[in-house]
Amino acid sequence: MRFLTLAIASLSAWVSVVEALTISQINGIKFLSDYNGQAVTGVQGLVTAKGSAGFYIRSTDLSTDLRASNSIYVYGSSALNNVTVGDIITLDAKVSEYRSSINYLYLTELISATNIIVISQGNAVKPIVLGDKVISGPPTEQYSALDDGDVFGVPSNESTVSAENPTLQPQLYGLDFWESLSGELITIKSPTAVSKPNTYGDTWIVGSWEITGRNERRGVTMTDKDANPEAIIVGTPLDGTNNPETTLLGDSLADITGIVQQVFGYYYILPLTNLTILASQQPETPPITKLISNNKCDQLTFSSYNVENLTPKVQHLPDIANHIATYLQTPNLVFLQEIADDDGSTDNGIVGANLTLTTLINSIAAQSNVTYAYAEVDPVNDVDGGATGYNIRQAYLYNPLVLRLRNPNPGNSTTSNVVLPGPELEYNPGRISPLDPAFTDSRKPLTAAWETLDGKNKFFTVNVHAGSKFGGTGIQGDERPPINGGIEDRVAQATVTADFIAQILAEDPNAKVIVGGDFNEFSFVTPQEIFLAISGMKDLEDVAGIPMVERYTYLYEMNCQQLDHIYISSSMTTDAKIEHIHVNTWATSAGQISDHDPSVAKLNVCE
Ligand SMILES: *[C@@H]1O[C@H](CO)[C@@H](O)[C@H](O)[C@H]1NC(C)=O
Ligand SMILES: *[C@@H]1O[C@H](CO)[C@@H](O)[C@H](O)[C@H]1NC(C)=O
Ligand SMILES: *[C@@H]1O[C@H](CO)[C@@H](O)[C@H](O)[C@H]1NC(C)=O
Ligand SMILES: *[C@@H]1O[C@H](CO)[C@@H](O)[C@H](O)[C@H]1NC(C)=O
Ligand SMILES: *[C@@H]1O[C@H](CO)[C@@H](O)[C@H](O)[C@H]1NC(C)=O
Ligand SMILES: *[C@@H]1O[C@H](CO)[C@@H](O)[C@H](O)[C@H]1NC(C)=O
Repeated sequence: MRFLTLAIASLSAWVSVVEALTISQINGIKFLSDYNGQAVTGVQGLVTAKGSAGFYIRSTDLSTDLRASNSIYVYGSSALNNVTVGDIITLDAKVSEYRSSINYLYLTELISATNIIVISQGNAVKPIVLGDKVISGPPTEQYSALDDGDVFGVPSNESTVSAENPTLQPQLYGLDFWESLSGELITIKSPTAVSKPNTYGDTWIVGSWEITGRNERRGVTMTDKDANPEAIIVGTPLDGTNNPETTLLGDSLADITGIVQQVFGYYYILPLTNLTILASQQPETPPITKLISNNKCDQLTFSSYNVENLTPKVQHLPDIANHIATYLQTPNLVFLQEIADDDGSTDNGIVGANLTLTTLINSIAAQSNVTYAYAEVDPVNDVDGGATGYNIRQAYLYNPLVLRLRNPNPGNSTTSNVVLPGPELEYNPGRISPLDPAFTDSRKPLTAAWETLDGKNKFFTVNVHAGSKFGGTGIQGDERPPINGGIEDRVAQATVTADFIAQILAEDPNAKVIVGGDFNEFSFVTPQEIFLAISGMKDLEDVAGIPMVERYTYLYEMNCQQLDHIYISSSMTTDAKIEHIHVNTWATSAGQISDHDPSVAKLNVCE
């Protein structure tokens, strides 16, 4: 075969038609076909499935090389009526590499099929069972040899799959594994949903193969150097039915049979028919927090919650209030992110959020015993990023029967807070370096100094909402390592924020500092590592010994992941505790109130 390939390559300038190739020869052992753009004749295969725009054939001359798929997609609806599942056919066609965006991997397919000849009909069509002895399950940690060990490798976009076209290593790399099955009809036994459906009903699943990162809810958590390539997304069924909209994280599903295909930048399984939910995890809603305040300095409770563009008018405000009142048990101090201004999306220069916050406070009071007070600093109109007109900002809710601001002296939108000897804060509350380019188009960290009502116990807080991942490329995309959108901004923001905290701790190494919020980043990626290194703070997850796989507040694609963090200074580590309350990641797509889960901490701030 090697000789034949070479001969064809050298002759290809004159001979554009390649005869009697097998499908595995067309696919080859790399991402891109050696025959891209060439005409092929007499390609023989068994029709395994039909879609609305083409059909799939599996070679009748199977290669045992696990790198080369034996199946391929024949694109074009005009030939659909010429074939029936179970036919063995030959056809002439052109080999094509197709993608709808330069950020995606290519799909190797046959186009412009002609001369379809049905050789026999009614042949058995047997899917390949994934995870059995013949084809192992997918690799569980790495996506591509080009990632250099980590999808979060820096620098990103050092190469592309399409330019390097590496030889497939399906036992090591997720992209290679799924590519080696391109066009193949497979069965996944006893799958578990590891996401809820997107708006098209597409749902990420894992099979009953080896899985790393599995959490108690049966989702898969992204951890350092393990971004879960063993999951695959199930797309629109080939028979025109729709996948259920109510699938939940961890649901047990009926076996899935479908075609593996690269579409929209991901390896999909296009199932023959829609997903069936067999059972969901119990209980359906998470337990309320076990971390209850005693309202004394030794056991105060803190929460951080990104409430997703909360305006006074939105339907979800009473539900957010319910989460704080019930699931979080009215913590003494709540770090909120994404509090919108009083007129929400209207872009008219209003930046105040009194109405938003008092509406939330009243709703919490109606559902609990606590009437919170709030502290925040309004931003400059339209300069802090986020959805247009909302002017989202961080804010604190605090229980005024337990805590108060220490010497309140609110800063304004442009004043930069300063650490004074003591340590004390010049502005309380105040923002960190609002004019620093690190925070262009992003939220400024909100600092505050607090004390218990007897004035004896002082502590500091920083409420963070770092720049988003907007502008990144897909985890299964062409750029390797994928571009982690906004990472330079988050590095700069982490540096400025950590410098400020380091100044507090330089004044008093035993100062009590609590930093919480939505950092839009994972603990094992540069911005968070820099933050810890400069600030000298501790990750509360580590202090409290939370298992790696239970550290999640967000569900994105296949991954349970942690964008929200709480950090504490080293004088407060004794008996420090944290819980993540999965009110949103465990809910249905329609039932989720915010895209983030809240967290609760119990901490000792006694002098
Ligand atoms: C499909 O069948 C029709 C009718 O026999 C024939 O004219 C046409 O060429 C066939 N199409 C292909 C792609 O072979
Ligand atoms: C990735 O790098 C290439 C080559 O330097 C560049 O042309 C391309 O624009 C980059 N991709 C993105 C999405 O930034
Ligand atoms: C699956 O598709 C069938 C046929 O359209 C439909 O009756 C059924 O409700 C679908 N199942 C789910 C869970 O949506
Ligand atoms: C804040 O809003 C509440 C509720 O609408 C209102 O009673 C209060 O007067 C407002 N306070 C300020 C300072 O605007
Ligand atoms: C309100 O406070 C009372 C008395 O302290 C307590 O018995 C009750 O359980 C509290 N209710 C709520 C909803 O926290
Ligand atoms: C913010 O406060 C500073 C210092 O008090 C003052 O100079 C500045 O004009 C204020 N800016 C705004 C927007 O109020």
